[in-house]
Amino acid sequence: EKVISVDPSSHCRYALGMEDGRIKDDDITASSHWYETTGPQYARLNREEGDGAWCPEGQLEPSDSQYLQVDLGRLTFLTVVGTQGRYARNSGNEFARAYRLNYSRDGLLWKSWRNRLGNAVMEGNKNAYASVINDLHPPIITRYIRLIPVTRVSTTVCMRVELYGCPWEDGLISYSSPEGQPMNPPGYPIASFNDSTYDGAHERSRRLFGGMGQLTDGVIGLDDFLQTRQYHVWPGYDYLGWRNDSLGTQGYVEMEFVFDRRRNFTSMKVHSNNMFSRGVKIFSSVSCWFKPRLIAGWEVESVAFKTVLDDRNPSARYVTVPLNRRTAKSIRCRFYFADIWMMFSEISFQSGNKSTHTHVPNPSTSEPPDDGNTPILIGCLVTIILLLVIIIFLILWCQYVCKVLEKHLFLLCPTACGGGYAEPDVTQCTPHQCFHSNAPHYAETDIVRLQGVTGSNMYAVPALTVDSLTRKDISAAEFPRQHLIFREKLGEGQFGEVHLCEAEGLPEFLGEGSPLPDRDGRSVLVAVKQLRADATSQARNDFLKEIKIMSRLNDPNIIRLLCVCVSSDPLCMVTEYMENGDLNMFLSQREIESTLTLSDLLHMSVQISSGMKYLASLNFVHRDLATRNCLLDRRLTIKIADFGMSRNLYSSDYYRIQGRAVLPIRWMAWESILLGKFTTASDVWAFGVTLWEIFTLCKEQPYSLLSDEQVIENTGEFFRNQGRQIFLYGPPLCPPSLFELMMRCWSRDLADRPTFEGLYQALRPHVNQ
Ligand SMILES: *[C@@H]1O[C@H](CO)[C@@H](O)[C@H](O)[C@H]1NC(C)=O
Ligand SMILES: *[C@@H]1O[C@H](CO)[C@@H](O)[C@H](O)[C@H]1NC(C)=O
Ligand SMILES: *[C@@H]1O[C@H](CO)[C@@H](O)[C@H](O)[C@H]1NC(C)=O
Repeated sequence: EKVISVDPSSHCRYALGMEDGRIKDDDITASSHWYETTGPQYARLNREEGDGAWCPEGQLEPSDSQYLQVDLGRLTFLTVVGTQGRYARNSGNEFARAYRLNYSRDGLLWKSWRNRLGNAVMEGNKNAYASVINDLHPPIITRYIRLIPVTRVSTTVCMRVELYGCPWEDGLISYSSPEGQPMNPPGYPIASFNDSTYDGAHERSRRLFGGMGQLTDGVIGLDDFLQTRQYHVWPGYDYLGWRNDSLGTQGYVEMEFVFDRRRNFTSMKVHSNNMFSRGVKIFSSVSCWFKPRLIAGWEVESVAFKTVLDDRNPSARYVTVPLNRRTAKSIRCRFYFADIWMMFSEISFQSGNKSTHTHVPNPSTSEPPDDGNTPILIGCLVTIILLLVIIIFLILWCQYVCKVLEKHLFLLCPTACGGGYAEPDVTQCTPHQCFHSNAPHYAETDIVRLQGVTGSNMYAVPALTVDSLTRKDISAAEFPRQHLIFREKLGEGQFGEVHLCEAEGLPEFLGEGSPLPDRDGRSVLVAVKQLRADATSQARNDFLKEIKIMSRLNDPNIIRLLCVCVSSDPLCMVTEYMENGDLNMFLSQREIESTLTLSDLLHMSVQISSGMKYLASLNFVHRDLATRNCLLDRRLTIKIADFGMSRNLYSSDYYRIQGRAVLPIRWMAWESILLGKFTTASDVWAFGVTLWEIFTLCKEQPYSLLSDEQVIENTGEFFRNQGRQIFLYGPPLCPPSLFELMMRCWSRDLADRPTFEGLYQALRPHVNQ
């Protein structure tokens, strides 16, 4: 599996589980709390439990240091912190205007975080509801983290929090090395190669000890060591570097690495500068010793490795040192100078099973061959050059051809990546089409910038405009609430819960023509969606609208409203219970062949198109068609559901605009995103994406490696229509004719998209084969 070589802190931004509860209440503690209802367990971003946030006791004074502490359970590469105040459905107005961070890898020794310019205090919130995201430069490798609200005047503060990052797979917990040194090149400013973010001790013997810093911050240095990736810092900032004569006559730099546990090391990657014109080179060789326990001697047998020095290419590079699967808790390595200077910007370790390292950029060069194999090396180089020439030729050729075949390009590209029924050499594909990865929960750093794009469009306007809702608008019958017997909770959303209930006497209640499957028993299982008593009036109105909409729909492929309880609170709607849950969950747990055949997938597609055909015939726009909103009953009949947007489980599928609606942007047509226009034709677009999901067995989110922002950018490409838009690739399972149908659903012009009637007619024959 290939890792993309970009700055890891731009990739490692997964929410770590405050909001969704993966971080348990027990792991969230605090120095104090005001009441039980503002305890630390309520410090979860975007949640409203208890009194809506964590608040330390009393007024916070400028000299106070109250904290909220989170135990992440394992070492984590923490890149982003998000905070929010106490909103409590508009009854709270406390927030922290600023805060700082302390962290600890072992829970005992605490360190204060500072950014690269030395500031510890970060800007916090400006109101009680909007979340504010802070990128951590440098990132923190830690297990425990404390957020410490900071104030200039005596005030009450409350906080809700999310943390973002990814697991620290290296397992490194500290490195020690000689301190870096300054350089005074003639005609240049003084460059300094110290480890300016090192969080351990600076010993008097000029060694760094017991911490980590720039060698593990994920930032790799540039080819020219005087240039830096960070503004407002001194030349040489990204590198830790040493001069050969400063360390006595030994001719090497000795470093020690300590790990969280015993590991089986396969390799070490050292990112090193090689600007030989200034006397900097990668190391000439390295020897490493291993210790299985901290309190033990170094094992006699070392691993030695000679690099191939390179006087032609001055690029900085990763040098991979094989560690021969040696087992150790601690490693000591001596890196031998090849020139006057040696400079490293990153060191990482690969251990254990063949796990890949998402935070380690892909090494670009330096896998040196055996010594003395120069002829082979030259042979390889010649081959590579020839290959490059061929590739360049192909690119030029393809650019020419693509101009001619602009439209066909999209049909070709996907197969170059995953599928496989056309020419394999279309190098025009953007790499996004080839990615396979889990859907990332990106931190919402860039949302504010995007508000320009989305403007003031109204996304949350319901499909049917319902002016005044009264009981007489609701055509479903009122069922006696006491005959609903709670069995279990099926789901939970912001404003309500869905319960599995037994409905006593429901078949008799509904009488003749009851759609219920079980007519024999007296009671049947139903799903009861219930609005929280304290829901906002907006939510209450939406709930009634959903009831009104659903009570009008009657189709075998649309979820059916059986009855309601609206004469008293809490409001309930009772629908058929779908034993097999939603289609997304159902498919993602299955493999093709074993339990599902291609014709099952086609059958599902036909049913969805049939239900949508019915909605379209009523001029009803669904706006959120996706596999997550299609439910399956025991006999695998599909029914389209969710006209009310209870979107908790799949929150990563929705794009949140601060203080506004949540949008399923990966399913939305370009005109819905850019112009706020929702029509049956935009439902057809979403149907195309739903088909794509079905034929990838929901193993992947659409455009999984595009960030939300990139998805929106891509929408702009659809609008401009200059051939730069990225389409979903053709799933390997998907017959070519079906992929063509999907592509038609994603036509730029609404008139070019098929109708649901047409889609139904096109899909149905496939099933009967
Ligand atoms: C590193 O060097 C810079 C520039 O000489 C200096 O300002 C900074 O204080 C040094 N940092 C440490 C941690 O020694
Ligand atoms: C440092 O490197 C220079 C150039 O390679 C060499 O001439 C000199 O002997 C080295 N000094 C030590 C102490 O190794
Ligand atoms: C390697 O695999 C074993 C068993 O599958 C697992 O227990 C262990 O944690 C894995 N080690 C690493 C470093 O992932």
